Amino acid sequence: MELLKGTGLKKKYTQKKRTVTAVEDLSFVLEEQAFLAIVGESGSGKSTLLRLIAGLEKPDEGHLFYRGEEYTSQRKGYAGQFLQMIFQDAYSSFDPRRTMMDAIKECSCTDGGRDLATLLEAAHLETALLEKRPGELSGGECQRMSIIRAFCSGVRILLCDEITSALDVSTQAEIVKVFCRLREQKAFAAIFVSHDIALMGALCENMMVMKDGVCVEAGRTAELLRNPSHTYTRLLIDNAKKQSLDAAVKDSCSAV
Ligand SMILES: Nc1ncnc2c1ncn2[C@@H]1O[C@H](COP(=O)(O)OP(=O)(O)OP(=O)(O)O)[C@@H](O)[C@H]1O
Ligand SMILES: [Mg+2]
Repeated sequence: MELLKGTGLKKKYTQKKRTVTAVEDLSFVLEEQAFLAIVGESGSGKSTLLRLIAGLEKPDEGHLFYRGEEYTSQRKGYAGQFLQMIFQDAYSSFDPRRTMMDAIKECSCTDGGRDLATLLEAAHLETALLEKRPGELSGGECQRMSIIRAFCSGVRILLCDEITSALDVSTQAEIVKVFCRLREQKAFAAIFVSHDIALMGALCENMMVMKDGVCVEAGRTAELLRNPSHTYTRLLIDNAKKQSLDAAVKDSCSAV
């Protein structure tokens, strides 16, 4: 069953007489309970695409559907009924003066305390952290709280924009594990935007590769990584391999 669908999406920006086509003739499908990765270098249009899907901006062309119903021209905020966005900077997505519990309560629909306890456990977060303010949490804890808050809103589609980019490698891995554990307990779908093709490969069964606003390649992640058909995808994979090599070198150096 198609949960979300976009067809022929296009978005242009004009600034100081210069026009940039951020997204060009782009189509995608997010199936029920699927994880879709959107990867590509900086400026390839990933965040713009997410903003279009979330209804934060309107496409110049193209159509968006939720469960077969078009929502392209709906008011801003309409898509909030069925999806939630999570951003890179978790701290700034919380009010610094309010506790985590207050922030979560404000977004909660119904799920109640029992569900919150299950979510906290899946995210490996202590209940005591609910009494803290964002400034009292680590970056990883704060990001895990923002994931939980999104869940408590009752939606079952998460749009995640570079949510691990501000975190160190082991914390990134922990966030990936949180999603894997949540997935065992809850039915939900997600789109993850990232430039980290290796990390996304570990999390998402479907992948779309973007370059200059265009989807250059899309399909099952395993197949795409094993047998990329586009030179740009190959380049991203080679860079990821090099980076993991660099990390391994760094690790072995620090172990000395
Ligand atoms: N509000 C805006 N006004 C003008 N140009 C914009 C705007 N938002 C995005 N762009 C331009 O559209 C293009 C795509 O930007 P976008 O932020 O979607 O890329 P991205 O893939 O998310 O990059 P990054 O990995 O750096 O986050 C870029 O050339 C960017 O400068
Ligand atoms: Mg971006």
